[in-house]
Amino acid sequence: MSTSRLRFRQLSAHINPASFLVWLAASHPCSNPNTSSRRSPMASLAYVISAICVSLLLSPASGIDFDYPAVFNFGDSNSDTGDLIAAGIGDPLLPPNGRAYFSKPAGRFCDGRLIIDFLMDAMDMPFLNAYLDSVGAPSFQKGCNFAAAGSTILPATKYSVSPFSFGIQVAQFFRFKNQVLQLQTKGARKFWIHNTGPLGCLSQNIVIFGKDPSKLDKFGCVSSHNRAAKLFNIQLHTLCTKLRGVFADATITYIDVFTIKFNLIANFSRYGFENPIAACCGYSGLPLNYDPRIACGQTKVLKGRSATAKACDDATEYINWDGIHYTEAANLHVSSQILTGRYSDPPFADQMPFALKLKF
Ligand SMILES: *[C@@H]1O[C@H](CO)[C@@H](O)[C@H](O)[C@H]1NC(C)=O
Repeated sequence: MSTSRLRFRQLSAHINPASFLVWLAASHPCSNPNTSSRRSPMASLAYVISAICVSLLLSPASGIDFDYPAVFNFGDSNSDTGDLIAAGIGDPLLPPNGRAYFSKPAGRFCDGRLIIDFLMDAMDMPFLNAYLDSVGAPSFQKGCNFAAAGSTILPATKYSVSPFSFGIQVAQFFRFKNQVLQLQTKGARKFWIHNTGPLGCLSQNIVIFGKDPSKLDKFGCVSSHNRAAKLFNIQLHTLCTKLRGVFADATITYIDVFTIKFNLIANFSRYGFENPIAACCGYSGLPLNYDPRIACGQTKVLKGRSATAKACDDATEYINWDGIHYTEAANLHVSSQILTGRYSDPPFADQMPFALKLKF
């Protein structure tokens, strides 16, 4: 998520969701993220794009006060709290997903809580309900989560895992907005934008693109993917600056999640982790414990033998949960680093000790 504040009514009056999309995607001609190992390294740009998470915070005041009446989130599986599952798309999430906190799969690609969950909790707000959960009539008084696993910012294609592209999420949002406006007739609005992480350090990418050791850096991460992620983040940061110029009343906060995550991977033992790049829940054993054919919790027959992607005993020793997503322990670390205010533009470290009682 990055930082920008937009007054909600201005947003609806002046931002054409399509043009917003074009801005984000313009310099990233990207191919599809979800094809198999045939993809080129540059196809991974789609991953870069898909990993951003944008939250729109509705706030009655300016400044970082963390007193928001509602939060709306857009993103992919890194912040999906059940949309893809509610839509009945793809394989169901199996145990041991969710085991560390929810004690069962909870729509999240994680053993427990996501960064968005920790941030909501820090603001004393309930976890965001997925938009598509609305059939069950949950409360959307505090906002709504439009994130869906596999989403990319460019429109979904026939190869996409999720049909809920950023554009569709935005369209859903604008439909939802009319109801929200009845609840929230006034107030400043803010954007909170997380950049993308070191994608080259995900076990999935290392398994697929890192077979040649010359492609790996000293941490065992795929260098080209991390370079692409950094380039993308530079442009995202620039975009955030431009948006501030376009929307004078807006607050746009850009959060450098890449730096937090790369520091965690490079200095993992200092932060209490034992394994920086292997998946806790996977198949194939160390060093990476990831096989693209078997998702966490799945059992399949491979070469005539039954194979199950099982979880490690203690996921708090691992940064990577399932080869693609972080563990709850890593999400907690990232969340607490975000909340120091030191990785944000504009910085809010000076305002921090105050606004939030950290619960973790
Ligand atoms: C690891 O920690 C050291 C000491 O704090 C720091 O200088 C270095 O930048 C960190 N590595 C990364 C990749 O952030």
